[in-house]
Amino acid sequence: MKNLDWSQLSFGYTKTDYNVRSRYKDGKWSPLEVSDSEMLDIHMASTCLHYGQESFEGLKAFRGKDGKIRLFRAEENAKRMINSADYIMMQAPSVELFTEAVAKAIKLNEAYVPPYESGASLYIRPLLIGVGPQMGVAPAKEYLFVVFVAPVGPYFKAGFKPVKMMLERVYDRAAPNGTGHIKVGGNYAAGLKAGVIAHDKGYSTAIFLDSKEKKYIDECGPANFFGIKNKTYVTPASHTILPSITNASLMILAEDMGLKVERRPVPVEELETFEEVGACGTAAVISPVGQIDDLTTGKSIHFGKPGEPGEWSTKLYNRLRAIQYGDEADKFGWVKIIE
Ligand code: PLP
Ligand code: COI
Repeated sequence: MKNLDWSQLSFGYTKTDYNVRSRYKDGKWSPLEVSDSEMLDIHMASTCLHYGQESFEGLKAFRGKDGKIRLFRAEENAKRMINSADYIMMQAPSVELFTEAVAKAIKLNEAYVPPYESGASLYIRPLLIGVGPQMGVAPAKEYLFVVFVAPVGPYFKAGFKPVKMMLERVYDRAAPNGTGHIKVGGNYAAGLKAGVIAHDKGYSTAIFLDSKEKKYIDECGPANFFGIKNKTYVTPASHTILPSITNASLMILAEDMGLKVERRPVPVEELETFEEVGACGTAAVISPVGQIDDLTTGKSIHFGKPGEPGEWSTKLYNRLRAIQYGDEADKFGWVKIIE
């Protein structure tokens, strides 16, 4: 294992030894290539640079107490990349090619999978881009699929501690019938301004509202929203929300733990009725939200005891982590051991 200060890692880029690549040309994907370069050599007229033909994924691998490396639900990320690619007219790697590339990238960089005790993990970033010269607005004829990895710590600085978020009432990250439900770079570009404003004002991130009526809760920056009240886990149903694999897993765990699960529009006015609120995602895991400010109305909503994650959020967090790190039996079949 590499000699890194694992417990001090934040969510950032660390150079590892190898990445894995495949190129789509003349109707087929090339066999996987291993590269030790951090650079891509692409044509300056590539569609990813001009017309936003780009999709990425994010998933994690964890080292257990037994030293084994466990990969979490990679097939779901593969399927989501296929959906993203279809919508913006890109060729996508098959589920098999995607999972093979992910496993290979982990294996080649095994020494960067953080030790069990550190609580850190290996973040895996698959990337799909349209390449090759293309001047008119049209789908590319060639595509590049790259998988690289980096050891990471918590996404929100606090780790598993309540954070403050602000309601975003000006900017939208996605149009009502646009690309919010898929994982494409344009959504993140559209959300940057709101994110930077939120950070500058001292918030972890911005909570977007639905872009049609501005009445309902949408995404929490790069994570899904959930609220808990009366033993019910509530998460928004909306076409502009990315279907989070973490959230899908939490809904299953919540039901398994005796909570009711509701997926439906969540009006802003409902916020103050929640006992607990959180943001969830691969990078965020669960980030409990302790306070939401609406700068337009001047209203501040507080959840739970100051500085303490809520009871159900803690139970869900512990359960998800136990499955990911192999401390609990994988009864849902979510984990694959990388041999
Ligand atoms: N929402 C957005 C906008 C995201 O970028 C992410 C991260 O992938 C999520 C939600 C959480 O999705 P997942 O749990 O699949 O990582
Ligand atoms: C993830 O949770 O994997 C994300 O993609 C979040 C972000 C870093 C874009």
